[in-house]
Amino acid sequence: MRIRLTEVGYTYPGGVEALNGVTLQIEPGEQVAIVGQNGSGKTTLAKHLNGLLRPGAGRVEIGDWDTCDHTVAEMSRRVGYLFQNPGEQIFKTRVSDEVAFGLTCRGLPQDEIKARVHAVLERVNLASQYDTHPYELLPSQRKWVALASVLVLDNPILVLDEPTSGQDSQGMARLGTLVSEIATEGKTTIVITHDMDFVADYLERVVVMQHGQIVSDGPKHEVLVRTRELERSVEPPQITRLAQGLDLSGQIVKVDEFLKAYSAVSRRPRVWNKTEIRH
Ligand SMILES: Nc1ncnc2c1ncn2[C@@H]1O[C@H](COP(=O)(O)OP(=O)(O)OP(=O)(O)O)[C@@H](O)[C@H]1O
Ligand SMILES: [Mg+2]
Repeated sequence: MRIRLTEVGYTYPGGVEALNGVTLQIEPGEQVAIVGQNGSGKTTLAKHLNGLLRPGAGRVEIGDWDTCDHTVAEMSRRVGYLFQNPGEQIFKTRVSDEVAFGLTCRGLPQDEIKARVHAVLERVNLASQYDTHPYELLPSQRKWVALASVLVLDNPILVLDEPTSGQDSQGMARLGTLVSEIATEGKTTIVITHDMDFVADYLERVVVMQHGQIVSDGPKHEVLVRTRELERSVEPPQITRLAQGLDLSGQIVKVDEFLKAYSAVSRRPRVWNKTEIRH
């Protein structure tokens, strides 16, 4: 299902112009990162994808649907949206009820709902928290509850608004594995994040936003290595900076790419002979 935004503009009721002339096309199955400074319009853009916000100007199309012609409930069958703040999303008093909510709204049989909730809680490592109140969990775990309630819907498009925030290195790795799995299922994944290493490791295309506009858009190996341009909006990956500082050739955005390029140019470790050791 193709996503197409055409010259989208949006101004909040208070007068802040959050999006201005945004044109973007995302093909089915793409793995896209949306990055940019705080307040650059990432969340506003994300909320246009599932109809939570309607464009003040231009059009937003998800497959053959114009978001202006469909309710949020209808849109939620095509686009799963993880809120930046899980507090905006979670409202049930049991983890399992929270995760089941969307399926219950769809009127699925109880047996199927139960099986899908169990499976997704296993997947996000929360099986033991089935009956727990979401607010008894750590904020980082609450994010996983919110994520589970999106994943369980099995939508063709997933929009994850800052899933990496508040996650420790283990959580990041699990999130990365999950994003990779979703990719193999052929779904479209859009991840908003400030973590450039996560972008480099797990996503393919990078869209950079600034002041409500898209200022750069392309494959990660092209966008992330334009460090001068990028650092006007976000911190480029450390490994890319290091590679450029060492004048290594190639488009290096990941540690394994760095090691390959570095070992190709560095001399083999010197083997000392016995005479040298004695002196
Ligand atoms: N509900 C709102 N009412 C008025 N202005 C808002 C509202 N939400 C966001 N804005 C403003 O719109 C602009 C874009 O905000 P948005 O939340 O889309 O940015 P963002 O890129 O997601 O930022 P962050 O990285 O901090 O999440 C900002 O100037 C912000 O202050
Ligand atoms: Mg945001």
